[in-house]
Amino acid sequence: MNSSFTLRVAPSILSADFGALSAAIDQVAPEVEWLHVDVMDGHFVPNLTIGPPVVESLRKHSDLFFDTHLMITEPARYLEAFARAGSNGCTVHVEVGETADLIAQMKDLGLRAGVALNPDTPFEAVEPFLDRLDLVLCMTVFPGFGGQSFMAEVLDKVRRVRQAVDERGLDVDVEVDGGIDVHTIVPCVEAGASTFVSGSAVFGHDDPDQAIRDLMAAATGAAR
Ligand code: DX5
Ligand code: ZN
Repeated sequence: MNSSFTLRVAPSILSADFGALSAAIDQVAPEVEWLHVDVMDGHFVPNLTIGPPVVESLRKHSDLFFDTHLMITEPARYLEAFARAGSNGCTVHVEVGETADLIAQMKDLGLRAGVALNPDTPFEAVEPFLDRLDLVLCMTVFPGFGGQSFMAEVLDKVRRVRQAVDERGLDVDVEVDGGIDVHTIVPCVEAGASTFVSGSAVFGHDDPDQAIRDLMAAATGAAR
């Protein structure tokens, strides 16, 4: 079905042991190319996590692609710091506004540029920017915390993003984030998502490496 693009799992370190992040990365690194880094400011979302200094430390430890999800109200102030720290891609939320400027800023900094939509933000909010983007992130939970339940009602929007990307012949990753496990990944693949962020299903598993292999098996099975 969706065999024309790469399927990838991006484990979210939000669900890892923050006291042993490098060990957590070592556990998953053999199975993945991307690592999802959740940045929260206690303002855009009611939680606080990590910032550029932690990304800089992790960069010294890992060659993975750092997919940096900025759940922050003022990304313009911090994009340069994340780029310098070693983020490879940054994703800003369309709800914070100034999206065109933020995309231009990300590109100027050499970052892959992503835009995220909350579950209740419509496709139309990202539609004008699609041809300038490398990634669209459809949140399948309201951002802020790991371990929440997948919201199947977002799948229609995933389908619309995939359809628009394909119709325009664009090379844009369609990413889903929130409540992704071996069951919920299946309808996401069928809807056209290509990148699957997973926190608790990976780092809450006894064997994170096996959890990733299971997710990839479920995804590739659904893509046939
Ligand atoms: C939620 C974060 C997600 C989260 C996913 O605000 O953006 O990346 O870590 O965690 P799970 O897979 O547990 O829903
Ligand atoms: Zn995230």
